[in-house]
Amino acid sequence: MASDDAPTGPVPPAGINHLVLNVRDIERSDKFWTELMGFKRCGELHRPNMTMRFYNGSTDNHHDLALMEVPSEKAGPEEDDSWSLAPAGIGINHFAIHYPDRESWLAQLRWLQQNEVKFEIRMDHGMTHSVYVSDPDGYGCEVLYELPREVWEGDTDAALNYAVPLPTEGEAALEDTTEVPIFGANA
Ligand SMILES: [Fe+2]
Repeated sequence: MASDDAPTGPVPPAGINHLVLNVRDIERSDKFWTELMGFKRCGELHRPNMTMRFYNGSTDNHHDLALMEVPSEKAGPEEDDSWSLAPAGIGINHFAIHYPDRESWLAQLRWLQQNEVKFEIRMDHGMTHSVYVSDPDGYGCEVLYELPREVWEGDTDAALNYAVPLPTEGEAALEDTTEVPIFGANA
């Protein structure tokens, strides 16, 4: 489909890519998901005010699961209803669905925009290019396409920590660069 064609319907996603849970105690959940459920930790967010860890299974995906610890003062219901990736309480932070390739992802973004689905956040990560939207109940859904494995597997942790916010409205929200950093290239 040419990029200026108005889409006539949604693009079927390839599937669920990962799930992020807000948890009360990161160490307790880490133990459960690794020692009992068999995931292995493959990265950690290096930010002062966010405790987040990433896990994968046997496919060595950049992450299948992530856990974000809810600050104790936010363990109850949140009154601020603005949409954010910062955990407001325990539960699902967001889940990600992936599209087969860049072209199908861009067509889906165009379809969503045409139907006035708000892009809450748009972000280039080191391993995906992503738009976060809310479903009718407020579940965060990350709409993404994956960058080639060679881009991130040299340093998965660095790729997981890479986050470039991008415009969420108008034509600028549909511009996507193919010039991406290669992680671990000079390690
Ligand atoms: Fe995500």
